Amino acid sequence: MKKTIILKIDSENPEPEKIGLAAGVIRQGGLVAFPTETVYGLGADALNSKAVRKIYAAKKRPLDNPIIVHVAKKEDVYRLAEDVPKFAENLMNHFWPGPLTLVLKASSIVPRVTTGGLDTIAIRMPSHKVALALIREARTPVAAPSANLAGRPSPTIAEHVIQDLYGRIDVILDAGPTNIGVESTVLDITRDPPQILRPGGTTYEELKEVLGKVSIHPAALAKSEIHVKYARSPGMKHKHYAPKAKVILVEGEFNAVINKVRELAEQHAKAGEKVGILATDESSSRYNVGIVKSLGSRRNLASAAKNLFKLFREFDEDKVDIIIAEGIPQEGLGLAVMNRLRRAAGYNIVKAD
Ligand code: TXA
Ligand code: MG
Repeated sequence: MKKTIILKIDSENPEPEKIGLAAGVIRQGGLVAFPTETVYGLGADALNSKAVRKIYAAKKRPLDNPIIVHVAKKEDVYRLAEDVPKFAENLMNHFWPGPLTLVLKASSIVPRVTTGGLDTIAIRMPSHKVALALIREARTPVAAPSANLAGRPSPTIAEHVIQDLYGRIDVILDAGPTNIGVESTVLDITRDPPQILRPGGTTYEELKEVLGKVSIHPAALAKSEIHVKYARSPGMKHKHYAPKAKVILVEGEFNAVINKVRELAEQHAKAGEKVGILATDESSSRYNVGIVKSLGSRRNLASAAKNLFKLFREFDEDKVDIIIAEGIPQEGLGLAVMNRLRRAAGYNIVKAD
């Protein structure tokens, strides 16, 4: 087991000596977990294939699942990617730093292990001060998937990173909870119109306003698993975001959903299972079996995004056998939340009407 150094760091004014230490580890080919505005990332020098290989090993990540490259200045995009279209600049100006990842044609300086063997590269500029300071000081683009073991919910606090990766990586920078709570939106801009491969922190509505036209990959919306052949983003085909318990997602009109969740909860409790219910503020008082946790108000879907992964992990600690989750509206950040819920459920979705 590796000795993992855990450093508490100020999220607004990161201490230069702590950034210096972590950046040195990246430069020397080591692994550093750091906060972004979405979730914690596990960073390595994106241009050092040996370092990037360590990310896959630490996370037990399949080698065909490419890693997002994080930059602190837009100029880096022109070294890492080829044929950067004019509208990409427009997107960068609008949304960076922030939770938007752009998929572009990769340049030859990018090791193929970073892109999971693809000839495209996913790039983003995070808006967290610690992330930006770390990338700047490392003086190299930083490859960083979410800092969880493959398949587990993404980490929104340093404690989650410690649970999954302690002893497997060199440094963890702990700046407290992340702000958004779901990962960035992955947008493929090698196609016309651009296509959302993974809904995330930048909403469909915001992108549409800037781009005019934007499509959503069917797998990102789909209520059932997509055939591997059609998975444009390798991440689509891997099981994801899953708590240890089995998850059932109930979708439909609000009151019908509540009745269905109640019915399922009773059934499973009667069968001797420990039941968790993932509810909302508007509904949590209507359940009387199981451990009930609320994602927050249905009128504030940002709170659902922020709480989702943390609640998955809490249910694991409660050792529930099954989680019955209410579907929420698909607008704004709700789309990203529903995408994660459907995948966590392994597409085990019950329609309530
Ligand atoms: O918010 C985030 O994006 C976080 C923080 C740390 O920045 N990172 C993150 O990385 O969520 P990861 O590796 O957990 O998810 C990256 C997703 C995967 O679904 C992967 O398949 C997709 O992006 N991806 C990466 N490169 C791609 C490419 N060249 N083409 C298509 N999809 C790509
Ligand atoms: Mg991930």
